[in-house]
Formats: sequence, structure tokens, C-alpha cells
Amino acid sequence: MSDDEQKIAAAERALQYVESGMKLGLGTGTTAAKFVDLLGPKVQAGLELTCVATSEATQARAKALGIRMSTLDETPFLDLTIDGADQLDGELHLIKGGGGALLREKIVATSSDRMIVIADASKRVEMLGSHPLPVEVVRFGLTATRNTVIALASDAGCEGEITLRQGADGKPFLTDSGNYILDCAFGRIEEPEDLDDALKMVPGVVENGLFLGIADLAIVAGPDGITLLSAKDNDNGDD
Ligand code: A5P
Repeated sequence: MSDDEQKIAAAERALQYVESGMKLGLGTGTTAAKFVDLLGPKVQAGLELTCVATSEATQARAKALGIRMSTLDETPFLDLTIDGADQLDGELHLIKGGGGALLREKIVATSSDRMIVIADASKRVEMLGSHPLPVEVVRFGLTATRNTVIALASDAGCEGEITLRQGADGKPFLTDSGNYILDCAFGRIEEPEDLDDALKMVPGVVENGLFLGIADLAIVAGPDGITLLSAKDNDNGDD
């Protein structure tokens, strides 16, 4: 099974958790897009949902499929959010933001009763950090913010190259909220809570891509099938 087929398998499995009448958060990225694509026909067949998107891209994709979209202001309490991840460990700690949507993703996920992560097996790691950690920062004072991120991340045991994300046009990438992203190649994040606490201390940091204690379940599709990882008991049940 290719990575793409694994993403589809995880997205398909996630449909089992969606019930008519739900208020649903829709994630961002290639895996979440596959879930949205599978949801479209279900909605057209009569599944009643009110959805909130985590990005403008997802909003447009879901609307094009006829999915009823709301805003988080209109619908501030969601039953479930289904989203992808760049990396996840055995404790369901995540790195997100590879697609730049981490801020809205975190706001939507934490406004939901449950968050389910869908991922192909390449995302499952023993320790977070081999994927750069995206950190969303305001544009004002970028150099000062970057310097403070370097210093405080180092205190939290994390060092590595920190680069300003570029868009396809060669200009700094701007998030849906008009901020920059610093991609922090720390290699290994031994103490994610310490790093999260450190980054929260930096005034110019809006949010970082560590999702700790947010995901309830991960559906990880690999060549041998689906593995479910539950945050409740950290009990890994194979299908
Ligand atoms: C978007 O900002 C990200 O958090 C994505 O959810 C994450 O990068 C996973 O994306 P893929 O499904 O494309 O790997």
C-alpha cells in the first residue's frame, strides 16, 4: 500500500466515528483532504453535519462538495475534529503545521469534545522532532522573536536550524491569519512539554505545532492494516 492508499484507508476508517447531527471540525493537509473527499458523498446521501474548517483551503474544498459549513463563532462547541498530523508518538503527542494551519487547527481541535488523528504509518515515530516543528509568529520583530525562540528552546533541550518558511512565490509564507512560520529542525524533542512551555513564553509566538494532550485517538494505516492508538489508556489495539 502506498502512502496515499494508507491515507485513504485511515480517512475511510474515520468515517465510522461520524454520526448524523454532529458538529464536526475538518482538518487540513493531504490526509484530511481525503477525509473531506469521502465525507462529501455521505453528505449528499443525507448525512446531516455542520462543519467548521481549520483553513481556507479546507473550507473551499468542503463547500465545493456541498458540505454545510459554519464558523467557529457560530458553532463554538464541536463534537469531533478529524485531522492529520506530521508526526505522532505513542502518547499521542503530535507535531502539526506542515501545511501552515496549526493555529486554526489547534483552536478547532480544542473546541471539540474529541480529536481523531488520521495518518499513514510514516507519521508514527518513537520520538517527535525529525520533522521540523512549525512555530507561528507575528511578523513584527521577527529577528528578536527568532532569537528568543532559539534561547528558550535551548533551555528546554532543543537546538537546531530555524528557518523562515518560504511560499511557492519565494516570499515568506503567510498563514491564514497573516503570520509567519518558523520551521525548527530540532531533530529530537525529548521533553515536548518543556519545549511547549518555553515557546509559550515568547511574546511574538502565536502558537506552536506541538499538540499535547489534545488528540484522543489516532487511526494509523500501514501496509498491514489499521492500528488504533488511544490516549485514554495508551493501549494499542490492532485490527
Ligand atoms: C496542516 O497545517 C498540518 O497540520 C497537517 O495536518 C499535517 O501537516 C499533515 O498533513 P498531511 O496529511 O498532508 O501529511
